[in-house]
Amino acid sequence: MTRKPYKIIFVCLGNICRSPSAEAVMKSLVEREGLSDMIEIDSAGTIGYHEGSPADSRMQSHALKRGYNLTSRSRKFDHNKDFETFDMVIGMDTQNVRDLKAMDRYRQYHDNIFLMTDFCSRISCNGVPDPYYGGADGFELVLDILEDSCYGLLETIRGKIQ
Ligand code: 4NP
Repeated sequence: MTRKPYKIIFVCLGNICRSPSAEAVMKSLVEREGLSDMIEIDSAGTIGYHEGSPADSRMQSHALKRGYNLTSRSRKFDHNKDFETFDMVIGMDTQNVRDLKAMDRYRQYHDNIFLMTDFCSRISCNGVPDPYYGGADGFELVLDILEDSCYGLLETIRGKIQ
C-alpha cells in the first residue's frame, strides 16, 4: 500500500528569503534521509508583492555556499486552498504565525499552524529574523536557525508518519 505524502509548507512575508531557504534546507535533509517520497515541501509568502520572482540573490548566494540551491519562485499563501492541502503550515516568525491564524477565520486549521523556531534545539530564538534590510550576518543567521530547526521538525514529522 502506498501512503499519501505528508505535506508541509513554510511561510514568511515575501517568500524570497526565509521560506524558500527553509524549503531548500528541509528538502536537502529529507533527501539525505531517503524520505523524499513521503514528505512534500513547499513555501509561500503572506504578501504577493514578489509573486513570480526567484529568491533574493543575497539569500541565494549565502545558501549556495552551504550547498543549498534555491529554485522556487515566490507565491502568495492561498488560504482558500493551502490550509486544506498541507498537514503543517510553518511560519518563520511570530507575525507570520499571527497572519496565518487571521487567515484561518473559522479556526479550522489553527492546530496545523506552527512557529519554525519551536523546532530548534541548539539555537534559542523566538522566530527567524527577517534578513531583508540587513547585512550578510543576517542571511547566515537565517541559515543557522533553519539548519537547526529543520532537524527538529523532521523528528516531529517522523513521529507523525510512522
Ligand atoms: P522574507 O523577506 O519574508 O524572508 O522573504 C522579505 C522579503 C521582502 C520584504 C521583506 C522581507 N519586503 O519588504 O519586500
